[in-house]
Amino acid sequence: MKNHIVIKNTLSPFNKIIEVSGDKSISIRCVLLASQAIGKSRLYNLLESEDVINALKSIKKLGINYKKNKKFYEIYGYGLNGFNPKKNVTLNAGNSGTLARLIMGLLVNSEKQIKIIGDESLSRRDFSRITEPLKLFGANIIAKKNSLPIKIKGTKFLRPIKYHEKLGSAQCKSSVMLAAIKTPGKTIIKAKKSRNHTELVFKYLKIPVKSVVKKKLDIIEINGPSNFQGFKYRVPGDISSSSFFLVLALLCNNSKIVVKNVNVNRSRIGIIKILNKMNAKISLKNKKIYNGEKIADIIVKNKRSLKAINCPKSLNSSAIDEFLVIFLVAAKARGISKFSNLSELNKKESPRLDIATNILKKIGIKFERQSDNIKIYGNPNLNLKGKYKINNFRKDHRVFMMSCIAALSFGGEWKIEDKDSIKTSFPKFLKLLRELGAKII
Ligand code: S3P
Repeated sequence: MKNHIVIKNTLSPFNKIIEVSGDKSISIRCVLLASQAIGKSRLYNLLESEDVINALKSIKKLGINYKKNKKFYEIYGYGLNGFNPKKNVTLNAGNSGTLARLIMGLLVNSEKQIKIIGDESLSRRDFSRITEPLKLFGANIIAKKNSLPIKIKGTKFLRPIKYHEKLGSAQCKSSVMLAAIKTPGKTIIKAKKSRNHTELVFKYLKIPVKSVVKKKLDIIEINGPSNFQGFKYRVPGDISSSSFFLVLALLCNNSKIVVKNVNVNRSRIGIIKILNKMNAKISLKNKKIYNGEKIADIIVKNKRSLKAINCPKSLNSSAIDEFLVIFLVAAKARGISKFSNLSELNKKESPRLDIATNILKKIGIKFERQSDNIKIYGNPNLNLKGKYKINNFRKDHRVFMMSCIAALSFGGEWKIEDKDSIKTSFPKFLKLLRELGAKII
């Protein structure tokens, strides 16, 4: 079956209310934490995408059962020492850095050796960033070339660590936090700003965690071991998935969208702050709290007067998964937008800064790139007529979705490869686009 799509028309004006799927980061954390709880947990609105299904399959291989019901997933945990894998188990994290890195944190006390593998994209990503701190807990880790496949065997004699997380990686911070709940004594983490879902869910579960939020970093202390009971959790909508639609409404003439029940945690709303600085006037309504996480409906109207941004690097981490679509807005904004210190963008499912520059070049947008800084010369009259082919060589879900948004907003005839990549994070992406009126062949 063909695995590409073709888009030949821009989207006609639309005015819609939509709901996107559950947040990927929170879904994976919930599955992993439910595997450590004592008793039954119920997870509502869990994202049903490959990354999350791989998390469910992984805990199953480690001896934890789960059941899918109509409205929720039920997971049956046996506490912090409850994994009971067979011999020579291999976990396949697929495309998910979050799953691979976080589950390693849970394996620091595993009596058996566990092998972790991933797909081609994940197997190229750096794991030294997480194997180094986990070794300090006492875990035994064998990794050739600092990447997957990795073999990990835990220890009964875990020791708490002091860890300075310098990359702004929530995956590293969270993995260490998961190891810390198994470890007797106080683990202290000094972490560069990154998304704080793990801290919030720990608080919701009453795991003893203390976090001091400073301007540039957070200090987190965890006293382990800390068993906790099975729990109920409703996963809020994913702001990263919403971002494609926010940008589409902003770039398509006379359009408006309301995305309902989205997680608007402060550590994730960089995209809203950045787009508002570009004059987008995005507003939030119906704010509420679900299990410690902030939720709201996000409202965006088309804006013809978008202006360039000199993006403060303090917003990088809270928009890290959204830069591909932010660059599209910069391509249509009046003036020269500047983004800096984006080296982490090249460490994702594909080298996204490199890919973004290739796409900008293809569509004739002037830019200047100096290592991890980029200047984009916006063109408010951008109206494409050519033919464009996106190869998506690392099958990156966000590259596929960003290309669809470019095609529907800027015009031209686009052939975009690897439709299947959306299964990773947002399987209903194309269905939602069609509901807005997109003609996708
Ligand atoms: C994630 C953290 C971010 C993000 C990724 C999900 C998480 O990665 O890019 O999509 O769930 O913790 P890093 O922590 O590597 O920056």
